[in-house]
Amino acid sequence: MEGLFGGAAPYYARYRPGYGQAAIGYLAETLGAGSRVLDLGCGPGTIAIPLARLVTAVLAVDPAREMLAEGRRLADGVANIAWLRGDSTVLRGLPPFEQVVMGRSFHWMDRRSVLAELDELLPPGGAVALVGPARQRGEPWEPDAQPWQVVERRVCGEFGLDIHSAANSFHATGEHHHDLLAASPFSSVECRVFGRRLVWDVDGLIGLQLSYSYSSPARLGEQLPAFVGTLRQALLADNPAGRWEQNLVTEVLVARRPGR
Ligand SMILES: C[S@@+](CC[C@H](N)C(=O)[O-])C[C@H]1O[C@@H](n2cnc3c(N)ncnc32)[C@H](O)[C@@H]1O
Repeated sequence: MEGLFGGAAPYYARYRPGYGQAAIGYLAETLGAGSRVLDLGCGPGTIAIPLARLVTAVLAVDPAREMLAEGRRLADGVANIAWLRGDSTVLRGLPPFEQVVMGRSFHWMDRRSVLAELDELLPPGGAVALVGPARQRGEPWEPDAQPWQVVERRVCGEFGLDIHSAANSFHATGEHHHDLLAASPFSSVECRVFGRRLVWDVDGLIGLQLSYSYSSPARLGEQLPAFVGTLRQALLADNPAGRWEQNLVTEVLVARRPGR
């Protein structure tokens, strides 16, 4: 197991919801069907795989071997995706790209340097698209908006796991992506939101929890079976029907240089 998401990749691939066809369609239309898109922090291809059907080529880049392996498996030979191990610090060494998308990954990077470097690398019409859960300005990271999240946070606390322990650049500065983009070379920002209704069962919620970096199987180590048992019991004690509904709202931010 390696890195931030050690052992989480199979759970990520299976249980993290994708963004839905409407969001991916909007992304493809906005970035351009003829474009070569860098998906930076691609994970198991959550965006790369559906986007590849709608654009010329996708360069899917991630530092985690396990995520890339899941991506290759799920893509099952889709010809116009190149899977590459790398991260936001090696952008100059990547094959050429014209547009960039980051799904739930920008917060893991030194966001200002990435935008400054992309300003040098992207052609005049190039955009930076950020995809992720919609949040209000100033809202705390991952609020306990869903009833099950309150239970999960409590159980995580019992096992010494804290969402705020993830050393990412959002936690470090509290700056929202919107504000950072507005002060960057890509200051012309369009925001669209896409809603979907999801239904979870208890296995889905446990799998979702194991897909997060701060509660990944590697973080849990030998505590993994006890954690899964405790979480299952706590979730079902809170909601014996074992069925949870969620209105998932995805935000797509497309940032361009002004006047483009
Ligand atoms: C939450 S996952 C997002 C996966 C996928 N893009 C999605 O939308 O679901 C975050 C990914 O960012 C990757 N990552 C972490 N630090 C990174 C960096 N500095 N540069 C590029 N990717 C990074 C992680 O390995 C992980 O696969």
